[in-house]
Amino acid sequence: MKSIDSNHAVGSQNIEGYSLGLSQDLMLGNRQAVSSWMKADVNCGGDSLVSRTLQAKGSEVNEFDLDPPKVLVVDDHAASRMTAVALLGMEGYEVIEADRGSIVLGLVTQKQPDLILLDVMMPGMDGFEVCQLLKQDEQTRLIPVIFITALNDRRSRIRGIEVGADDFLTKPFDRVELAARVKSLVRQKRLNEDLDHAEQVLFSIAMSIESRDPNTGNHCERLVKLGQVFGEYLNLSRYQIRDLRWGGYLHDIGKVGIPDAVLLKTGKLTPEDWQIMQQHVLIGEKICQPLRSMRGVIPIIRHHHERWDGSGYPDRLKGNDIPYLAQVFQLIDIYDALTSERPYKRAFTSAEALSVMLEETDSGWRNPRLMQQFAEFIPSYQNREF
Ligand SMILES: [Fe+2]
Repeated sequence: MKSIDSNHAVGSQNIEGYSLGLSQDLMLGNRQAVSSWMKADVNCGGDSLVSRTLQAKGSEVNEFDLDPPKVLVVDDHAASRMTAVALLGMEGYEVIEADRGSIVLGLVTQKQPDLILLDVMMPGMDGFEVCQLLKQDEQTRLIPVIFITALNDRRSRIRGIEVGADDFLTKPFDRVELAARVKSLVRQKRLNEDLDHAEQVLFSIAMSIESRDPNTGNHCERLVKLGQVFGEYLNLSRYQIRDLRWGGYLHDIGKVGIPDAVLLKTGKLTPEDWQIMQQHVLIGEKICQPLRSMRGVIPIIRHHHERWDGSGYPDRLKGNDIPYLAQVFQLIDIYDALTSERPYKRAFTSAEALSVMLEETDSGWRNPRLMQQFAEFIPSYQNREF
């Protein structure tokens, strides 16, 4: 059986040509742009109180451009809620009100506030429960929550910290303090969103690479799935598994800088072509480096073609000098390349693929212990329903 590496030509063909897939879901995002807030008042049904206060002209928050930040004020006490609404309205925020905890989740989905001012004690669902649910949900966890507590209510503050509160304010409100805290947290949230948007640009680039090579099918989708499940099998942390999944999409993003004449070449690559092709790991690293959130993925991008015996690239790292996640990712990447059909090869069976990979491990290319774990893991993966 022919030995294969994800960066090796097989026969006269170029297997490096396989590229990225990306789900529409991820690209278009489940997040709606903040600017998509509705102009009309919203009635959440029943007799729930939901109203809106327009921002004052020339207000304090003009630095947020034409898109005034939205603050959701949740308090069952009308007087205290109105005070917050009035103060925030004067500061230029668009304010949404709710008089009970149970309607908050629906409102948040509908209105996408930039910040929530949340009373602790409310009949039915209290503030702690609301906050906990918001912070557990991927779609809402980045919305800052400020708890409104009574002065010196230490117990509530501790409980608030436990459920993920971002800040606390005491009643009666001090206008300056309220404005400062809200402004600071809203700014932070918007910075986080910009980061999110920057990530989406990278995923867009990754998708454009896939569109340059229609032969690879859903390679990246499969890498993402396999990365998730193998990561869980290895007991990796949540963040490591996320990095593996992101690696599935982004590992070959540097191919955006490889000329079509090389990337899409159907004939055998010349040594010069290979030199150009190998640059994709360095280009990919450069593209992702400015983003802090990419820190964990960069080792995968740079080192996914290293080999255990030091014969890989770009740094010819040996053994455990190769970042662990890059070692893990490499196994997933190669396994998927082997078990997929390409114009120049049939899809290998799982047993054939593992046999090739074990041969390569014997010849020094892979981490023997990790390869063993992978070989043990694959049968259970195959039995899973996706
Ligand atoms: Fe690659």
